[in-house]
Amino acid sequence: ESIKVFAPATVANVVCGFDILGFAVDAPGDEVIMRRKAEPGVVITKITGDDGRLPMEASKNTVSASVQDYLSYIERTDIGVEIELHKKMPIGSGLGSSSASTVAGLFAINTLLDEPLNRMQMVPFAMKGEELACGSGHADNVAPALLGGFVLIRSYKPLDLIKLPFPESLYCAIVFPEVDVPTRDARRMIRDKVLLKDAVIQWGNIAGLVTGLFMKDLDLIGRSMIDVLVEPVRSILIPDFYKLRDIAMGLGAISFGISGSGPSVFSFAKDKDTADKITLAIKKHLNALQIGCQTYVSPI
Ligand code: HSE
Repeated sequence: ESIKVFAPATVANVVCGFDILGFAVDAPGDEVIMRRKAEPGVVITKITGDDGRLPMEASKNTVSASVQDYLSYIERTDIGVEIELHKKMPIGSGLGSSSASTVAGLFAINTLLDEPLNRMQMVPFAMKGEELACGSGHADNVAPALLGGFVLIRSYKPLDLIKLPFPESLYCAIVFPEVDVPTRDARRMIRDKVLLKDAVIQWGNIAGLVTGLFMKDLDLIGRSMIDVLVEPVRSILIPDFYKLRDIAMGLGAISFGISGSGPSVFSFAKDKDTADKITLAIKKHLNALQIGCQTYVSPI
């Protein structure tokens, strides 16, 4: 008995919602193939596409470790599975690479066992996988990877996840500049205290973005996607960040910002043609700086 599962890349933060907002794209993503085996235990038999960077050891790999946690929780440690992980998206890109793998693994085991848990109930196991991957159990990649679309994390304790509506025909243009930014490091550089005057700007924008999603108001979405807390610090990791923003906005982007902890950047666009133009122009600018890029355009 075996199953193949794909889980998508995700854009966490959505600019102004640090750790509380994220959405899933169609592609790229990761693939897990899981097979039942007679003996109990979880093993990784193969990893492709990671250039040897991910651990094969079951307790250290986020996919197997979260499957082990899941099996302990549902009291089925008698189960044995072999896992193949095929990375089809870049690691350390700010596109939720570890969460795509973890979510694919959890979805696979839950399906093989005839769905003892629903998708909401699987989120905490995926969050533990994130903690293993980057030292922080944030949910703004794993929740949208599991639930699809836009997800708001209204609260972590207790966990309160809300699926949000969003305008049809919203496109996401993503560019991954090939400079490695581990989430662990990108989290360390953020200040843990904020000024009240900045917080006022930030929560106005978050409320504006969520309202814009509900009202399907692209202009409100665009003018709300401003981050005064995290982006000013993290943008220094991304070559020519503010120049890239000017390029995207000049081509009709609704918004521009860092995807998750970076270095990927993303824009919303109202159609595929605009999204294609934005990715091409950003890639061209980065290539001129001798920086290689991968680009993705996806409906949301
Ligand atoms: N909210 C997290 C961060 C997402 O910005 O560190 C990491 O992908």
